[in-house]
Amino acid sequence: QGGGPDKRRVPAVLDVAHRGASAYAPENTLAAVEAAQRLDATTVELDVQRSADGELVIIHDTSLERTTDAEEVFPDRESYAVADFTLAELRRLDAGAWFGAEFAGEPVPTLDEALARLHRHRLNLLLEIKSPELYPGIEADVASALRDRPAWFAPRPSWRWPRLVIQSFDRESMRRSHDLLPRVPHGLLGTVPEEEIGDYARWADQINPDHEAISADYVDAVHDAGMQVHTYTVNDPGDMRTAIAHGVDGIITDRPDVARQVIAEE
Ligand code: G3P
Ligand code: CA
Repeated sequence: QGGGPDKRRVPAVLDVAHRGASAYAPENTLAAVEAAQRLDATTVELDVQRSADGELVIIHDTSLERTTDAEEVFPDRESYAVADFTLAELRRLDAGAWFGAEFAGEPVPTLDEALARLHRHRLNLLLEIKSPELYPGIEADVASALRDRPAWFAPRPSWRWPRLVIQSFDRESMRRSHDLLPRVPHGLLGTVPEEEIGDYARWADQINPDHEAISADYVDAVHDAGMQVHTYTVNDPGDMRTAIAHGVDGIITDRPDVARQVIAEE
């Protein structure tokens, strides 16, 4: 089960299923984790936010309208901000039907449920703290949730990639999270100016930019500072090949099956 050696091939470039295998199942649901598993992904990216009563939940947008039926279930609410709904309210929502009728009834998962499912399938996790400015103290909440599941801190035998990475566009949030969880690698989303890379390399482990923003020189500069580059969101095989030619360490994609094929060609 989750703690054993990983018998799958260790990829030269890491494939990361963005919001789960979100081309094939509703993003940030357990169905998207299952799809990633079926497609033989090694790693899943998920977004974490916090409910009104302090529970950590997996969802991308900071409001509920796009990926749930919140407006139908709660027609009288003035705001559909994730932060304004309790976990009990969020659990009444359907986070799957918008993607396809076969996913109707798929709930908004909690972080804990997602961690358990990923662990069961021996999938690794790239966890994005989404919009941490809306959730003061969320880094400590995430750290506490992870400390309850120590397997996430143990390296996988024969697996050269980290089992768990935490990332955010908010660099101060990542600094706080790193201070709380110094053994967990941390990634900075977006493009860090080259002259600042050395400063961040003192504590960060990855710089994870949009694939359209990178060049081989930029990737080299990050590598020279001792960090990795995992680039998003790369869905076209030609763009994947370009990113790999630039020297990236990981491809974050809605289509992990395509990434696995392209990576295997290299
Ligand atoms: O992992 C990279 C990617 O998830 C960042 O963008 O908007 O999809 O969270 P977004
Ligand atoms: Ca994300």
